[in-house]
Amino acid sequence: MEGLAVAAKPMIKVAAVCGSLRKGSYNRGLIRSAIEMCGGNGPVAGMQIELVDIAPLPFLNTDLEVDGGFPAPVDAFRKKILRANAYLFASPEYNYSLSGPLKNAIDWASRAPNCWADKPAAVVSAGGNFGGGRAQYHLRQVGVFLDLHFINKPELFVHAFQPPPKFDSDGNLIDPDTKERLKQVLLSLQAFTLRLQQ
Ligand SMILES: Cc1cc2nc3c(=O)[nH]c(=O)nc-3n(C[C@H](O)[C@H](O)[C@H](O)COP(=O)(O)O)c2cc1C
Repeated sequence: MEGLAVAAKPMIKVAAVCGSLRKGSYNRGLIRSAIEMCGGNGPVAGMQIELVDIAPLPFLNTDLEVDGGFPAPVDAFRKKILRANAYLFASPEYNYSLSGPLKNAIDWASRAPNCWADKPAAVVSAGGNFGGGRAQYHLRQVGVFLDLHFINKPELFVHAFQPPPKFDSDGNLIDPDTKERLKQVLLSLQAFTLRLQQ
């Protein structure tokens, strides 16, 4: 309508980090589905999600930091984390906690200057009987020191091994109800990110 300008929402860049290195990972399947929802004709406009691979990162060892510099894969990872406006974590639960590879990645990007500081985040998980819930709550605790701001709701815990099937044999999310709930997580992260940017 003439005279009524509709302000476009700024594009939010989300870095997605998966705690599983497994090829057919269900958690990476959640991230792939989130990427699809935010792309092209997907239902979530205004967000771009990039999966940031943590597999090339060495085990954290501060001896690898030479003259204040980081090994090349760590440096590349830190830059991607720093550039993002928000984060989406998807981690399996390993022995009632977040996965070792995810904690390693988080620790590398936390070395000064802390790349995570003052950014919004969401966490989802797929796993056994609690759907990875205990990993989520440990990650939220780690996020306190990182100065991450997690959205509280909605929560998404995917019980990967309960019927109906949630994933196909390649780890792609196929369950419509889980897709809908994942979409609600993304919309909540988007709204919270925009609020923090005001
Ligand atoms: C070392 C290890 C520990 C695990 N511990 C738990 C656990 O405490 N709780 C749980 O629900 N599942 C546990 N699992 C199962 C994984 O969370 C489950 O297989 C999940 O699907 C793996 O995620 P992914 O499909 O993204 O690789 C464990 C798996 C491994 C390899």
